[in-house]
Amino acid sequence: MKKLIFAITLLLIVFTVIIKGGPQPMSSQIPSLKDVFLQDFKIGVALPVRVFSNSMDVELITKHFNSMTAENEMKPESILRRDASGKIYYDFTVADRYIEFAQKHGMVVRGHTLVWHSQTPEWFFKDEKGNLLSREAMIERMREYIHTVVGRYRGKVYAWDVVNEAVDENQPDGLRRSLWYQVIGPDYIELAFKFAHEADPDALLFYNDYNEFFPKKRDIIFKLVKEMREKGVPIHGIGMQQHLTLADNVGWIDIAIQKFKTISGIQIHITELDVSVYKSRSPSIIYQTPPLEVLKEQAEFYRKLFEIYRKHTDVITNVTFWGLKDDYSWLRFFFGRRNDWPLLFDENYQPKPAFWSVIESVSK
Ligand code: G3I
Repeated sequence: MKKLIFAITLLLIVFTVIIKGGPQPMSSQIPSLKDVFLQDFKIGVALPVRVFSNSMDVELITKHFNSMTAENEMKPESILRRDASGKIYYDFTVADRYIEFAQKHGMVVRGHTLVWHSQTPEWFFKDEKGNLLSREAMIERMREYIHTVVGRYRGKVYAWDVVNEAVDENQPDGLRRSLWYQVIGPDYIELAFKFAHEADPDALLFYNDYNEFFPKKRDIIFKLVKEMREKGVPIHGIGMQQHLTLADNVGWIDIAIQKFKTISGIQIHITELDVSVYKSRSPSIIYQTPPLEVLKEQAEFYRKLFEIYRKHTDVITNVTFWGLKDDYSWLRFFFGRRNDWPLLFDENYQPKPAFWSVIESVSK
């Protein structure tokens, strides 16, 4: 009987390789990320909705991840609608699929994101004549949006990126001059946290940003979050996005975590991790295929990163990758179409050297 099962399995593998013309996932033969890091932190992944109807994606997701984030589908522009008369309404059809998938597979959901300068329709800030709303009307609009979205997913989304990327280190007060800032003023940030907490008192509420380990920006985020905590604003964590390149300074990341964790009661989520194989966002040479030495350098970088994360498991409770596999990454189109291989799995669902070094970081 055993021999028969073995023969059938072998035949199936050979058959799929011939039909699909390439190696297929053998995820059952490699360690599961979420199991390896079970004692340390949750392991998350950002997903576009199409993965739910691809069985190979589903297999990889459920094997390795116990947390998920909608890459775009829970952002205001994906949920907000306006009818012909200008009346605002909500469309949760796609967002609901994330919750259903997570519940079916025992995963938690990070909600991304409520208040952001990007991917929020401009009309949301305006009245029916196209004029910017008054401060009071905008606060009410924000309150209603946050109450509706967070309220719908109360008890189902365990953590929210309430405010995203509000810091601009080049402004005198360190705050981005977004439409939120222009219409409401700087206190839009704490109001957003207050409304989110009203809508779900048990959800963990995060301030989320990129380049958060660069000293100047780090210090502004630190001050912003510390002052909110001291004022009693319901904020529970800092989201460190961690969109990195091979030129980034991992020592700075360690220092930023050490600094953030001095804020009493704050936890840290690594919310959007990826490591570009290049050393800048506008590299002079684009690889056709990733050179092996570069993949090894990337693996070494990931190893150092995870050694740092594991030093801080007292505050880091979730590490989320921004994408399932290399060919799904935003880095393939965001800075113009170009090759990049920033994640742990390649186009063929195979673990890369970076996967193995992340796993090995646990034995240190
Ligand atoms: O859905 C449309 C599609 O209909 C259209 O044909 C296509 C043409 O370009 O665009 C599609 O929308 C794109 C969308 O991603 C879905 O793929 C948008 O153009 C594109 O701008 C959008 O990019 C997203 C980006 O946020 C926008 O700011 C990325 O997928 C997403 O990964 C990225 O995520 C952000 C985080 O939310 C915040 N932190 C930074 C991170 C990376 O930029």
